[in-house]
Amino acid sequence: MEGDGTVARVDWEALETEAQSAIEGAADPSALDAARVRFLGRKSDLAQALRAVRDRETGMLLNGIRDRLEAAVAAREAKLERAELDRALTEDVVDVTLPGDELPVGHLHPITQTRREIEDAFLGLGYEVRDDREVVTTEYNFDKLAFDPWHPARSHRATFFFDENRLLRTETSPSQIEALEEREPPIYMVSLGRCYRRDTIDATHYPIFHQFEGLAVDRGLTLADLKGTLLHVMRSIFGPDRRVRFRTHYFPFTEPSMEPDVSCGICGGAGCRTCRFSGWLEMGGSGMVDPRVFENVGVDPEEWSGFAFGCGIERVAQLKYDFPDIRPLWEGDLRVLTQF
Ligand code: DAH
Repeated sequence: MEGDGTVARVDWEALETEAQSAIEGAADPSALDAARVRFLGRKSDLAQALRAVRDRETGMLLNGIRDRLEAAVAAREAKLERAELDRALTEDVVDVTLPGDELPVGHLHPITQTRREIEDAFLGLGYEVRDDREVVTTEYNFDKLAFDPWHPARSHRATFFFDENRLLRTETSPSQIEALEEREPPIYMVSLGRCYRRDTIDATHYPIFHQFEGLAVDRGLTLADLKGTLLHVMRSIFGPDRRVRFRTHYFPFTEPSMEPDVSCGICGGAGCRTCRFSGWLEMGGSGMVDPRVFENVGVDPEEWSGFAFGCGIERVAQLKYDFPDIRPLWEGDLRVLTQF
């Protein structure tokens, strides 16, 4: 446009051709927008010429060009949008057949795995699974279980006391008392959980450890029921070819008391290093519930009889998984724990 108000001598036909090819050649929305601003924007030759137009003929010419260019921009815009949609539909679609990113999934601690296997064995026998208090009174940990007043486990050197009366349970046996006080026999229960003793740490001792405690109280139970139960449980945990034997022993709360052994799975009973060439592995303690325990919880020993047993879960895990040292179980070292 010239200063005198006349339209500059622009070759409109050439300009329209140039604009059309810029619009059609725009590869993406921003290129299209640039072309639109350049040929149709407020400062474009066309817009300025339209503002200055004086005669009808030029007006019609320029309006015609503007209409066609605007239509071309709209058409190009629609085409680019459709192309983008097609691309998104084909390229951005999730291919469900591709393998996903693998997430690092953990697994249960070997003690938890063992604990659950033991629970399963007892659930199969119809036992109730219990999880009892770890902080107990001397009454529950010792007195009601008929421990003598001078029993060494009552010493502060052997047991973690909070005060004269409260301590961390040294065994799961207080669960027997809790179960017996909770309801009337018949009772078939197993209680699993942590126990605490002031032991020096070595390959087979740790101040925190786990036990499972079984108690069955019914009419007419005998040692044969105890042995059959332990045989079933040991076979479910270790395999069907295991045997169980008893050695007489002493525990305050059972009479008679027995230590159950399970036949060694490494040598099949012939004798090897694991079983110290005896063919048998010690599995804990057991016996027939002492009448004094029944009396302490108000159960009539003339009417009811029962058996009980207690066993270390670390011991079971060690035999199952064959690891020489229990300390790594408490160290959270994944290089060790992921092996089980
Ligand atoms: N509480 C005993 C211990 O920790 C093990 C035990 C022995 C549990 C005999 C029992 C039992 O239930 O009858 O050494």
